[in-house]
Amino acid sequence: MSRTFYITTPIYYPNAEPHIGHCYTTIAADAIARYHRLAGDDTFFLTGTDEHGIKMVKTAEAAGMSPAELADRVVSVFQQVWKELDITHDDFIRTTSDRHKQAVGRIVQRLLANGDIYLGSYQGWYDEGQEEFVTETEARTNEFKSPINGRPLVRYSEPTYFFRLSKYVPRILEHLEKNPDFVQPASRRNEVLSKLRAGVEDLSISRATLKWGIQMPNDPQHVLYVWIDALSNYVTALGLGSDDQARFDKYWPVNVHLIGKEILWFHSVYWPAMLLSLGVALPQRIFAHGWWTAEGRKMSKTAGNFIDMQKIRDLCALHGVDALRYYLLRAAPFGADLDWTDADFAKSFAELANVLGNCLNRTLKMVGRYRGGQLPAAGELQDIDRTLLARMDALAGHLAGAYERLELQQCALLPLELARAANGYIDSTAPFSLAKDPAQASRLDTVLNLSAQAIYRTMVGLLPILPHKAAEGLRQLGVDPSGQALQHLMTASLAPGHRLGEGQPLFPRQV
Ligand code: MSP
Repeated sequence: MSRTFYITTPIYYPNAEPHIGHCYTTIAADAIARYHRLAGDDTFFLTGTDEHGIKMVKTAEAAGMSPAELADRVVSVFQQVWKELDITHDDFIRTTSDRHKQAVGRIVQRLLANGDIYLGSYQGWYDEGQEEFVTETEARTNEFKSPINGRPLVRYSEPTYFFRLSKYVPRILEHLEKNPDFVQPASRRNEVLSKLRAGVEDLSISRATLKWGIQMPNDPQHVLYVWIDALSNYVTALGLGSDDQARFDKYWPVNVHLIGKEILWFHSVYWPAMLLSLGVALPQRIFAHGWWTAEGRKMSKTAGNFIDMQKIRDLCALHGVDALRYYLLRAAPFGADLDWTDADFAKSFAELANVLGNCLNRTLKMVGRYRGGQLPAAGELQDIDRTLLARMDALAGHLAGAYERLELQQCALLPLELARAANGYIDSTAPFSLAKDPAQASRLDTVLNLSAQAIYRTMVGLLPILPHKAAEGLRQLGVDPSGQALQHLMTASLAPGHRLGEGQPLFPRQV
């Protein structure tokens, strides 16, 4: 029976074009979704855009257009980029779509009916970049500037509806304490716990001064403040609050909300509080990954170290999308902060070429030269063969564990380490010398067979990370992976007599 697997990315603000940060989260989610699909899980992968709020209004104004025009324009850029990067999302939710707006209206009705929303007045410091009020203490600590982007906080005072966040804090605390995997990584979970223990105020959820948003169903003078609107996307996309909730019933609770670390608080506190009020099950896991800097500094256009789409497109045109995916996912343990350097990118590409490409190429060449492209059966095994076989057999289990724990760096490195081991095996067994001695024919058969099995397993293991290159590698090995389950591919071996294809460099060096 197939399990379901639901994974989401944040919905991105379309007030500026995507950059490496958005690509990182989305590629990470894509690799995880691809793994689960291959593993036979009924998988649903959601991404989208968060289109309301002050920031959109301001950016649109400065560009001389309406927020809706700005949203349409930038959303189509996001969609185009996901196509270029071969992202396999199953749905793309826009917060300006009717399905979302209607469902949010019904969700807010339910919060109102529960008595969890009341009218009050708010006076406070507002971080326009983050679209949130910050407490007096936080404002003072950060010298009345946004801790995220350094811009001055703005003083706001207005009537606003509040959500009774504080009412749910004890239950959220208890949930966090009892479920160590609910918020990951652990260091970030601890930050959330201490902030929660320090006390939390009710949440201002509406603006009377803003038109660009979803109207409060009970009071058309107010539009919803973005976080309630935005967070709801994870369930409105599944049909909660609509007439067809089949998807919701099937996929909720979500397996993984993948987000960047700066929005962990909203996801691990506001969102569970809303769900508790709605009587809906809590997410299984919220995983906050780290932030990219570039060449050792915060990315900035003026500093010239901004990794924008132009740069990403150029790299993909030269080295292929898979080289980008590999670099991003192997750069640091998933969850840690990361630093882009051109030198590291080049190193990671060289690793693909020298370890993976080389292992495939030399194996195909040897089988071609010594056995006419037909895989010989293995003969009697020696210790060195058994060691390599044991590594091959262990890969599927290790990968499953790494994907389960979201150790994406390991998901990229584990198969590569098998190819490295296969290269070492070829070096040690020296098939080119064996080929010179007819008495060693059976030994050569064994070495050729095992080398081919190892690179085959490596390619299968890399399918979620390098969807193109791994599939191409498999084709060169005479295997068509399409439509096949990982379980089958991982446990299958290339049969004796199997015809291998032509070797072509998988990662041609660019000059
Ligand atoms: N709209 C909100 C999210 C609402 S989710 C219900 C938002 N949008 S955003 O456009 O600012 O995107 C933030 C996300 O982009 C981060 O959580 C992260 O996934 C990604 N990144 C943006 N810059 C990043 C880096 N420099 N490094 C890594 N990822 C970062 O917040």
